[in-house]
Amino acid sequence: MNLVQIPSRHRPAARRPAVGEPAGLSEAVVDLSAVRDNVRTFRRLVPQGVLAVVKADAFGHGAVPVARAAVDAGATWLGVARADEALQLRADGLTVPILTWLYDAAELMLLGDVDVDVSISTIAELHHVVSNPSVHHVHLKLDTGLHRSGSAPGQWIELTRTAAHYEALGALTVRGIWSHLSHGDAADAVQSRRQLELLRTGVVLARRAGLRPGVVHLANSAGAITLDAPDCDLVRIGAGLYGIDEVGLGLRPAMRLMSKLAQVRRIRAGEGVSYGHDFVADRDTTVALVPLGYADGIPRVASGQASVLCRAVRMPVIGRIAMDQFVVDAGDLPVEPGELVTIFGDGSHGEPTAQDWADWAGTIPHEIYCGLGSRVPRRYEEAAR
Ligand SMILES: Cc1ncc(COP(=O)(O)O)c(C=O)c1O
Repeated sequence: MNLVQIPSRHRPAARRPAVGEPAGLSEAVVDLSAVRDNVRTFRRLVPQGVLAVVKADAFGHGAVPVARAAVDAGATWLGVARADEALQLRADGLTVPILTWLYDAAELMLLGDVDVDVSISTIAELHHVVSNPSVHHVHLKLDTGLHRSGSAPGQWIELTRTAAHYEALGALTVRGIWSHLSHGDAADAVQSRRQLELLRTGVVLARRAGLRPGVVHLANSAGAITLDAPDCDLVRIGAGLYGIDEVGLGLRPAMRLMSKLAQVRRIRAGEGVSYGHDFVADRDTTVALVPLGYADGIPRVASGQASVLCRAVRMPVIGRIAMDQFVVDAGDLPVEPGELVTIFGDGSHGEPTAQDWADWAGTIPHEIYCGLGSRVPRRYEEAAR
């Protein structure tokens, strides 16, 4: 292959990205000081300890850096859904207690070897644990109304008695008793109270069976604030860590999604944009390409509704959001390729928030954060405040 020498006048000048500018096409900037502040807000407002929920790669923010920041700010426990997430945290040196609630029997040995606590809902799960050579810390889970997992109340006495029997044999330690709210978004306080009462009864029965659990926990982020449960030891904070503020605590969104305009063109009135020409210009206008698409987690269903911030102006997303890219209408602004675009942030500069994107997509901000694809690099910063 012949390499063609580009005449120097056409050769782009190599330059370093300016401060705050993505090094590549796009990046998600995670402000770990926001995570710390959010943990401190919960610590100030609730008497219980904080278990930081860093499942699903910390809702897309990056499990290990977020876990470190949360622990640094006073979280005493970490929680993840899956075994591999817990193992990753241990492999990266996190030594605080970790609870995982979805795992395969085959993963138990690995979890036991690095002292990860496992949730138990059934006698069969207890048997799996004790047939494993590692001694496990377990948290017995009672189904108090979510009806997703946890022991049915009718089987609780047998579960706690069997666990007490195994504990007496030294085969395991029951470190916790827990449950999960069905209306944890604070939509139904009566249901949450009912669940708390059921959990309290479950704890009494467990004590009667001879168990002495070190921690009892029920509430999520919103429940931590709305449910008065001084007899619980931990609150499990997921959404709130990332600044999803369901009860108005002044939490700080931790993630800012940035990109750079990839191309700019002028189109004429009557010309259509993107697949199917769902958008047709009603005037001559400048359109600009943003190199992010639904493969990166930009919800396709937000096509035609969303907007982004560029040059301190909200530019509407026009036409269909494609797999790798979408188009915005810059009007008559003389934008150029390479200009910064904020897809979402904390809203303080007029940019949309993840909540705005969730509203446009008919979902919740959790899904916007978790959906952010692996092609988008995460960069960590500590904003000076
Ligand atoms: C079992 C469990 N506990 C606690 C949480 C935290 O809930 P939230 O994100 O509403 O704080 C979650 C989900 O994130 C969960 O699955």
